[in-house]
Amino acid sequence: MSAAIEVHGLRKRFGGLTALDGVELEAHPAEVLGIIGVNGAGKTTLMNCICGIYRADEGRVMIGGRDVTHRTPHEIAHHGVGRTFQIPRVFRKMSLIDNLLVPVLDRDEADPALIERAENTLEHMNLIELRHNFAEELSGGQQKLLEMARMLMPDPTVVMLDEPFAGVHPTLCKFMIERIEAMAAGGKTVLLISHDLTSIYRLSHRVAALNEGRVIAMGSVDEIRSNPAVVEAYLGN
Ligand SMILES: Nc1ncnc2c1ncn2[C@@H]1O[C@H](COP(=O)(O)OP(=O)(O)OP(=O)(O)O)[C@@H](O)[C@H]1O
Ligand SMILES: [Mg+2]
Repeated sequence: MSAAIEVHGLRKRFGGLTALDGVELEAHPAEVLGIIGVNGAGKTTLMNCICGIYRADEGRVMIGGRDVTHRTPHEIAHHGVGRTFQIPRVFRKMSLIDNLLVPVLDRDEADPALIERAENTLEHMNLIELRHNFAEELSGGQQKLLEMARMLMPDPTVVMLDEPFAGVHPTLCKFMIERIEAMAAGGKTVLLISHDLTSIYRLSHRVAALNEGRVIAMGSVDEIRSNPAVVEAYLGN
């Protein structure tokens, strides 16, 4: 079976700064792959290159065995890749229901099955009571849930979450963890970026540690926790 995500030799420069310096990684179907690394390690840039927001300078990205390098974000989304953003990007002046209908606009938005799916997804994310509110009325944590709900609407096979737990109360973190577990249990591959190591270690089947644009270690949670290069990158000498 093909890997769900394969990244080979990915490089991305911004002027003189090399943000990704030959990244290699692979995520299996239904795997939660945690991505850790200090600020500026290249985690978000990696996600942006995979989903087509940034154009990689070199290297290849394969999703489900198909080469999607240099495809547009729209094409990559159609190929079954969804994501959330480090700082939520909801459609502020639209209702929650309408936010969820945006990724499926190419289908018939008056289709009752789509509305029902949007309502079920909002229910799943504990937002159903607010379905007719504007997204701008939501708290920061609720906006993160709304982004996850919107991401799930087209039923992606690969989901990428950029810092879902940042600035989120522990009770909501616990709820998000359950929802992320449900995504993987339902067969989705999850690429999870977080500085919350407790949550990363709890959720991830494997973890990749990024440092200065390179994968310095990849393995099970136990392997990563005891890896001297990871410890040094986090804590210094
Ligand atoms: N659009 C851009 N233009 C210029 N430099 C960028 C751009 N995006 C990222 N960078 C640089 O690339 C490097 C990696 O940034 P990135 O956002 O990927 O880090 P990160 O690991 O996600 O960090 P954090 O944990 O703080 O979110 C940083 O030095 C950053 O300044
Ligand atoms: Mg980031």
